[in-house]
Amino acid sequence: MSQRSGHDPGGSDVPIEVELVDDRGRPAAREGGIGSLLLEADRLVAGYVPEVNILNGCDLALYEGELVGIIGPNGAGKSTLLKSLFGLIPIRQGSVRLRGEDITGLQAHGLVARGVGYVPQNNNVFPSLTVEENLQMGLFLRPRDYAERVDVVTDLFPLLGTRRKQRAGSLSGGERQMVAMGRALMMDPSVLLLDEPSAGLSPAYQDEVFIRCRRINAAGVSIVMVEQNARRCLQICHRGFVLDQGANAYSGTGDELLTDPKVVELYLGTLAKAR
Ligand SMILES: Nc1ncnc2c1ncn2[C@@H]1O[C@H](COP(=O)(O)OP(=O)(O)O)[C@@H](O)[C@H]1O
Ligand SMILES: [Mg+2]
Repeated sequence: MSQRSGHDPGGSDVPIEVELVDDRGRPAAREGGIGSLLLEADRLVAGYVPEVNILNGCDLALYEGELVGIIGPNGAGKSTLLKSLFGLIPIRQGSVRLRGEDITGLQAHGLVARGVGYVPQNNNVFPSLTVEENLQMGLFLRPRDYAERVDVVTDLFPLLGTRRKQRAGSLSGGERQMVAMGRALMMDPSVLLLDEPSAGLSPAYQDEVFIRCRRINAAGVSIVMVEQNARRCLQICHRGFVLDQGANAYSGTGDELLTDPKVVELYLGTLAKAR
């Protein structure tokens, strides 16, 4: 892979919402603070084609209450990492643990039942179904909880309530992203895996998505977020991982990564403004 510089479409130098950051500009820890190790990936090796590994010994740790960001160049394996965590591609070596339980190779439905939600990068809504039907699909394992969960989810995304009879395919990209996140939240997950939630959205909608992610996290959902909007992602996450060529290149708090000259040079494109 020759391209090493990160890709960071504009609009990311202005701090996002004050209410969601502490007075030092960091994400305010949710009530109760950061807890114990929730999701842990250890030296993952995975790929699509036999004998071609895309993940080459990749590690990840997510603590209870955390919002963790994963950034890195196109093709680094970020989506592949989320797919392997969610049981969508076979793990060739390494392990994944959830609350200490070995879940390596567990299929998606088993993970959903254990409280893991996943929002893929593309095609993440059923376009011919209404918003309401999309939300119902999210709760297919526990249909009786629909009324209660839909209240929680429409509280986080009021638009899903007002547009509930509209077909998802007729919504804008930003609105569809909210449907996709809302659907994943219907199961009341403890971990949410988000693949590029801001991709393809206007700068205003990108900020909206980041603010929603902070709110979802503050409501008690631990999040792993893959993002191409690297600087924005590091601004709102507790900790970040830089993935390059299927392995960890750098990790640290969002602030540490934003001010690390190497990370800035290689992955953030331009010099990060002093914050
Ligand atoms: N379905 C697939 N089949 C074969 N190769 C794939 C597939 N999806 C992704 N890849 C390859 O895996 C590598 C990493 O892709 P991906 O995880 O999507 O990167 P990122 O999300 O970091 O941009 C790329 O070289 C890509 O071409
Ligand atoms: Mg990707």
